[in-house]
Amino acid sequence: MTILHLDTSINGDNSASRQLTRSIVEQLKGSLWGEQVLYRDLAADPLPHLTLDQFADTSVLDEFFAADAIVIGAPMYNFTLPTQLKSWIDRIVIAGKTFRYGANGPEGLAKGKRVIIALARGGFYNEGSPAAALEHLETYLRGVFNFIGIEPEFVAADGLAVSPEQREQSLAGALGETVRLAA
Ligand SMILES: Cc1cc2nc3c(=O)[nH]c(=O)nc-3n(C[C@H](O)[C@H](O)[C@H](O)COP(=O)(O)O)c2cc1C
Repeated sequence: MTILHLDTSINGDNSASRQLTRSIVEQLKGSLWGEQVLYRDLAADPLPHLTLDQFADTSVLDEFFAADAIVIGAPMYNFTLPTQLKSWIDRIVIAGKTFRYGANGPEGLAKGKRVIIALARGGFYNEGSPAAALEHLETYLRGVFNFIGIEPEFVAADGLAVSPEQREQSLAGALGETVRLAA
């Protein structure tokens, strides 16, 4: 089994999403899920913005196809995903490879992979909350992975910028969730 581990936070050692992805990968390895872990730090080694020429380079898509499980750290930046992660997504959502349009509309072709996403958000975006309409991170990631045939699993640390106490509480809760997710 191969695990693809992606981090995207620019916050280095202070990153909540990095702590969460590390824990998820450790759990997966512990349950003998992953003999091999491939790590990409998309903040330290960003993929360039997509250009037409780069469609010829399928290395990121090949890595995605080779993975049985993909663990992604996804901090919220300006209500959505970091551009570092968007550049990666631009290389895996490819017509004829991970989706196609058939008689019944779009069909995902990347079924059978496990995708676990660690969300880290400064505020709260629960349904009914004042900022709910600005949540374009989890909704986007769910939509894009559904589009290619995958139901992603999420673990979320929210309200991280509200107060140090809230940060500690949210992070502890989310770290606890990673154990359940990886079981
Ligand atoms: C550039 C930038 C933009 C951010 N934008 C938002 C935002 O729109 N909404 C929010 O709730 N938090 C926002 N935050 C806070 C982060 O989501 C929060 O600090 C989170 O912990 C980042 O994940 P990390 O700890 O893995 O780096 C932003 C942080 C940065 C650095």
